[in-house]
Amino acid sequence: MQKATRCCGSVLLAALLLVLAACHAAAQAPLGSYLGCFDPNRLIMRAEDQKRLLLQVWNLTQATLPQCRATCSKWFYPLAIIGTHFSCRCSWSVPDNARRLPDSRCQPGSNGMAVFYMNQLANSTSCRIAEVPMRPDAWNIAYGDQNVVWEPREGGVMRFNLAGTQGARLIPKDGDHLYGTFEIRAQTTCAPGAVTAFYTRSSDIYPNEAAGDFSEIDWEWLNANPAKEQCSLWLNAQQGGKGMGERLIGPAEYQKLMGWPRSRLTNNSWATYSINWQPGFVTFALDGRRVRTMQNGEKRTWTTMGGNTLSRAFVSPDKPSHATISLWTDDRWDRPESQRFGGILDTTGGPYPSRFKNMRRVLCDVPLPAGDAALTAAVRGPAWLY
Ligand SMILES: *[C@@H]1O[C@H](CO)[C@@H](O)[C@H](O)[C@H]1NC(C)=O
Ligand SMILES: *[C@@H]1O[C@H](CO)[C@@H](O)[C@H](O)[C@H]1NC(C)=O
Ligand SMILES: *[C@@H]1O[C@H](CO)[C@@H](O)[C@H](O)[C@H]1NC(C)=O
Repeated sequence: MQKATRCCGSVLLAALLLVLAACHAAAQAPLGSYLGCFDPNRLIMRAEDQKRLLLQVWNLTQATLPQCRATCSKWFYPLAIIGTHFSCRCSWSVPDNARRLPDSRCQPGSNGMAVFYMNQLANSTSCRIAEVPMRPDAWNIAYGDQNVVWEPREGGVMRFNLAGTQGARLIPKDGDHLYGTFEIRAQTTCAPGAVTAFYTRSSDIYPNEAAGDFSEIDWEWLNANPAKEQCSLWLNAQQGGKGMGERLIGPAEYQKLMGWPRSRLTNNSWATYSINWQPGFVTFALDGRRVRTMQNGEKRTWTTMGGNTLSRAFVSPDKPSHATISLWTDDRWDRPESQRFGGILDTTGGPYPSRFKNMRRVLCDVPLPAGDAALTAAVRGPAWLY
């Protein structure tokens, strides 16, 4: 009895020391990767942001502020927004860089809000917001120039037409990046046979069988095979050239999840589609609501278009990649209908349009030198937060 007590006493003491050590380390750790100071009234612009993109944690103190990062990370929010009263909110909405304020506006007594990216590599890379304007000078067109229309309205809208069997594929001009957040607003065609896609990809070699060892993370809009209904959503990731888990979300499911009316579909309303890609996980969100989380080591089982059941332990894609947007139809005429991805297009109709705007990314592409000295204000944000 006595022995047991002594044993527990030393276990308790050790645990206390561990907690103290952890608290001390946490006080030094960055709150995430600092993205800048933003005007609170301009930070959250969209009506649905107000309703859904935010998890309001609470007003913390300097000592408890690390809970902000812990809470936002626990629920897989990519961003934490910290106000000068140590208020903490978690968000999916990448702020508009044009609305960034001088860092002095995030000092005590000012009303700016410091935005941090929940970067798992906050000690080794710094991050930035990088928009891709919907203007021809920002994009390389892999094919289908004649099917791309740049509309100047609403800050720039890029419209694709699927005309006959010809669509288009576009890639931002600024190269490949490892990890980060990618978001875009989209309104996409529901025509069977039309496949609209927004994805990250490490290779521009197609088809997949020819690309070898590549990485990919996809949002696709499917209107037939393997989708059962038009206006469906399809999520996937590829690592080492292997699928890491497919998932279909039909209209009834996303309408229920989002509280949307039956009339609201992917082709008649803009919605924000996001990917958060980190070394340990990939998450997807629709209008700021997380719809899929895949963590390293989790077993995923799914049925492919061909009816094969696959099962794999998830591994987050690990190759530098670029965003890609495309609209296409599977024109492998030699295959039976059941083997054509996205179904069969009525080529006598059309053109079928899909539209995109407001593409924003958080990219973490500046490596930091080793050691705590590298964790300067550019990474840690305002000094008084620590
Ligand atoms: C970063 O470094 C700090 C201090 O050196 C440490 O406490 C923390 O656990 C490290 N990791 C992250 C992800 O911040
Ligand atoms: C909590 O934070 C908000 C925003 O920074 C601030 O307006 C409010 O006064 C704070 N509340 C308290 C009790 O400090
Ligand atoms: C959207 O798709 C549905 C289902 O195919 C169709 O009934 C509707 O007319 C389409 N609406 C628009 C605006 O294209």
